Amino acid sequence: MFCTTLRHASIFAGSSLKLKTMKVTESALAGANRAARLTQRLLAFSRLQPLDPRATDVNKCVAEMSEILHRSLGERIAVETVQGSGLWRAHIDRAQLESAILNLALNARDAMSDGGRLTIETSNAYLGQDYAAVHADVAAGQYVLIAITDTGTGIPPEILEKVFDPFFTTKRLGEGTGLGLSQVHGFIKQSRGHIKLYSEPGVGTTAKLYLPRETGQPEASEKPTRILATPIAGRFTILIVEDDEGVRAFAAGAARELGYIVVDVTGGAAALEILKTRSDISLLLTDVVMPGMNGRMLVDAAIQIRPDLHVLYMTGYTRNAIVHNGVLDAGTRLLTKPFTLDQLDRELRDILGEA
Ligand SMILES: Nc1ncnc2c1ncn2[C@@H]1O[C@H](COP(=O)(O)OP(=O)(O)O)[C@@H](O)[C@H]1O
Ligand SMILES: [Mg+2]
Repeated sequence: MFCTTLRHASIFAGSSLKLKTMKVTESALAGANRAARLTQRLLAFSRLQPLDPRATDVNKCVAEMSEILHRSLGERIAVETVQGSGLWRAHIDRAQLESAILNLALNARDAMSDGGRLTIETSNAYLGQDYAAVHADVAAGQYVLIAITDTGTGIPPEILEKVFDPFFTTKRLGEGTGLGLSQVHGFIKQSRGHIKLYSEPGVGTTAKLYLPRETGQPEASEKPTRILATPIAGRFTILIVEDDEGVRAFAAGAARELGYIVVDVTGGAAALEILKTRSDISLLLTDVVMPGMNGRMLVDAAIQIRPDLHVLYMTGYTRNAIVHNGVLDAGTRLLTKPFTLDQLDRELRDILGEA
């Protein structure tokens, strides 16, 4: 399947430029072939393609793709896979999944023209009710997560909104079709999964594919119940630093709901001002990658002001990607977005429990 996609990509790439020099019959034939391929890809994101979802071992699938990934990405891009242990099986069409992973990897390659690192990680994941509530089309429940991270150019916020649109491309004529991500999106939606992109210009991009867990039963819907122990909150004030307004609002709302007193700001400079004037802040919850002062720089400066301050990072990247790229030390406490109210609760309790 992925070989087919590759071939398509290269035919697409050459087609428009060579058209003029072709003989009439050749160009008619090429046109018809192109139309057929285009139809296939259009079907893919208009949700009409037939899928054959089966119980799939995603670790095996990723491992078996290792060679084609190395070959497609070239020598200047290191490919690392981190396989989650005890991974559930996913309910997914394997050939289409391979094609999706390859599509994402090729986008990563294009974003790393000077070389870099591609990290593919798998893990079991849970999307909570609160996440489902703010993301249309997402059902809360258990998923098999594949996270594909690159250290490339990143995607500016104003472009991030458009990347799933069919035919949207920032690549030169002949180099991009703008169909890769819309195809992946269509396939994942049709499979009742979820795709989320996190990106920071100049740092890189993570694509998270949430595939439905294979339950062996048709449409088993789970209703998780949330049991919150008696709040230890109330006594504690948390300072939240996050440049993304949506994430900040969610994190602040969640922490307040858990009973904490919350102060939230958009960047490191404002956070340091608050730490200088308020002695009641027990914990700093900060984004890692932010314009200007990043999370790590902020924490270094914050500890100078308040050596006893507890710190919890949050990031859209995965722990491996962050630690391997040297942004944070191993052992640092880190919450990966999207996180649920329960995960935040557990993490805060764990840190502040001893406080
Ligand atoms: N990993 C990535 N890093 C940076 N930009 C990306 C990445 N993935 C996708 N993009 C952006 O999204 C656009 C659309 O991607 P896609 O639908 O695959 O089409 P194409 O690759 O043909 O341009 C790309 O042109 C690029 O601007
Ligand atoms: Mg692409």
